[in-house]
Amino acid sequence: MAEGNDWVLRRHVITPAFSPLHFKALESLMVDSTKGMLDKWVLQINSGNQEIDVEKEITVVGGEIIAKASFGMSYQNNFLGLLLQENNVEGRQGKTLSTQQLVDECKTFFFGGHDTTALAITWSLMLLARHQDWQNQLREEIREVVGDNELSDINTLAALKKMEWVMNEVLRLYSPAPNIQRQARENIQVVDFIVPKGTNLWIDVVVMHHDRALWGKDVNEFKPERFKDDAHGGCEHKMRYLPFGFGGRMCIGRNLTFLEYKVVLTLILSRFSFTLSTTYCHSPSVLLTLRPTHGLPLMMHLL
Ligand code: HEM
Repeated sequence: MAEGNDWVLRRHVITPAFSPLHFKALESLMVDSTKGMLDKWVLQINSGNQEIDVEKEITVVGGEIIAKASFGMSYQNNFLGLLLQENNVEGRQGKTLSTQQLVDECKTFFFGGHDTTALAITWSLMLLARHQDWQNQLREEIREVVGDNELSDINTLAALKKMEWVMNEVLRLYSPAPNIQRQARENIQVVDFIVPKGTNLWIDVVVMHHDRALWGKDVNEFKPERFKDDAHGGCEHKMRYLPFGFGGRMCIGRNLTFLEYKVVLTLILSRFSFTLSTTYCHSPSVLLTLRPTHGLPLMMHLL
């Protein structure tokens, strides 16, 4: 992982590639890849098998989207092309990244980006399968906001407010990135004690997101409405809700995640209703990410 000045340069070069200006092309790519997956689901359902392991499916399609976004689309739109463009702008005075560093950045997007977003969608489907009222509310919102139009307008997606509350609540309860690490580069005074230089700090996001003292008695309940008028979901301390980390190193891909999340969920909810399969075994496990150990089998029904 890049650190210090090396990180500053890398972050500077990659930031423009995540500008919403480039999202239009990405959105069509997401719609096409997702529709391909859903067409397969329809064939499977029609052949009499309604049980689909959506974790597996969504991880594959998430990987396809990010791989095409990084390397595969037209040169003007893929990340590598955008990074090369930014890297070559005049006035960098020798402060550029090598080709290998640029390719490494694209690999970081791939590993940072495809699993986490796919998991956010997967856990959302699990919770929506258990909370049919929210599944119906989101479907209703999609009908009102998107209607029969194609999903081509980013402003349309921005109007899906309830879907945003659901996403925030899912990222609270099942944070795909369950912890954040830092290393103290010098002695740091925190109130009345000192964190010595070189200490590795492990910030346990899952524990903070489930702390009754911060969230109240209903901390373990799925209540998207806590995010209705508050970006921190009513948390007692705004630095304790950290699905994307914090500070200068905060996740660079979060806007891209919002986009993919909304596109994929809108397409699924418009075509299917779903319930948990009786074969689902609830067992979240933390490795690098927080994932369902035995996948997520859902019973899918055509609308
Ligand atoms: C639900 C989806 C996602 C979650 C929960 C997530 C979470 C995180 C977290 C917690 C960090 C560390 C922040 C810190 O140390 O303060 C991070 C960093 C990062 N993420 Fe994400 N991420 C997601 C999606 C993505 C996507 C889609 C991409 C790119 C396509 C991406 C690319 C990155 C990169 C490049 C970094 C390192 C940034 C830096 O060190 O300057 N992430 N992410």
